[in-house]
Amino acid sequence: MNSPAEALARHPGKLSDRYRRVRATTVDLVRDLQPEDTVVQTMPDVSPTKWHLAHVSWFFECFVLKAHKPGYREYSGAFHYLFNSYYNTAGAMHPRPRRGELSRPTLSEILDYRQHVDDALLDFLESDSAGEISELVTLGLHHEQQHQELLLTDIKHVLSRNPLQPAARHGLAQPAGVAPGAYEFSQGATGIVSIGAEGGGFCFDNETPRHEALLHPHSIGNRLVTNGEYREFIESGAYEDARLWLSDGWATLNERGWNRPLYWDEALETEFTLAGRAEIDDHAPVCHISYYEADAYARWSGCRLPTEFEWEHAAGALAAEGNLLGNNAWHPAAADGTRQFFGDAWEWTSSAYAPYPGFRPLEGSLGEYNGKFMCNQVTVRGGSCVTANDHIRASYRSFFYPDARWQFLGLRLARDEHA
Ligand SMILES: [Fe+2]
Repeated sequence: MNSPAEALARHPGKLSDRYRRVRATTVDLVRDLQPEDTVVQTMPDVSPTKWHLAHVSWFFECFVLKAHKPGYREYSGAFHYLFNSYYNTAGAMHPRPRRGELSRPTLSEILDYRQHVDDALLDFLESDSAGEISELVTLGLHHEQQHQELLLTDIKHVLSRNPLQPAARHGLAQPAGVAPGAYEFSQGATGIVSIGAEGGGFCFDNETPRHEALLHPHSIGNRLVTNGEYREFIESGAYEDARLWLSDGWATLNERGWNRPLYWDEALETEFTLAGRAEIDDHAPVCHISYYEADAYARWSGCRLPTEFEWEHAAGALAAEGNLLGNNAWHPAAADGTRQFFGDAWEWTSSAYAPYPGFRPLEGSLGEYNGKFMCNQVTVRGGSCVTANDHIRASYRSFFYPDARWQFLGLRLARDEHA
């Protein structure tokens, strides 16, 4: 993280105002859900909506209020166990795959819990100690924005399993699907470039330190791969052609019977969206594919996935704008002249999620935030259609296991060029 002063410079306005805005956004995301929707867990990766609403409050309670606010009264001792996610140094926790077994506390109690935390936190931010906690509160808000995205991708999975195919939100924007034109490439930089957060705004520890990386001659695609292009890949028989697949990918698709993106119907005509089931827009970016599928598509195209360094260098010159949460589409949209580096779908890179040279995790329990996951996962870049607009930047690194599909995950092509 950078200093609180720098963080505030990037997000002008009082920290308490930003706190109110981010916390209100989270609750607004669930306005069209019913209490019953918020309890269900459909797989271990998916957490119930109710759990997300509580866990982000627990984060502020555990790391700001209990740790720093004199006389703070904990809402409930049991909540520490229930809503600790993975911080072993903070104590024992309820097992992740069993979060959907919790009919209690009720949604209404969890909303009371949020209010209790908000009252105490906003009071703290009005005190003389506000400066000392601003860095932690800023981290807590970015943490909450990460969970806003997870809340939506998780409820999408939950509702997709319901034969009624309910929508998570009514009245979502439906951007017109314009044909994006042939897939084109731009020459990337060659040689030593600087990678990582530059300072001047908030960043997570995994984006640091800024360091040098070597780019070999390459070019990078000017947009994301579309549903229509991915359909051609499917219809060419790619899912039956072992030559296109990494060994782990071939084993996984056979084991799980994959033959199309998650949420597509068998006829390849409709897909489940946060607005319910909808026709597949061939011009929109393909999403909900694993790393294995992205890699196989790239191989089938005679290309490869970009490294995270190629991606960051190409995206670094662009404004971090695109089809993000504030666009109110909650689904990828066809490129209308934009290069789609930000928003729509996270982009699989070919880079293993690893520490940058000289990486040091945060001190204390918060050192568990990112660093301990730097094994067996792949870096994804650029945010998605459900990433908060002020929560993405060129240096931002997210990461998933290569078989993950329930996030908005898509791809951009790259290829080697001869010097
Ligand atoms: Fe979390």
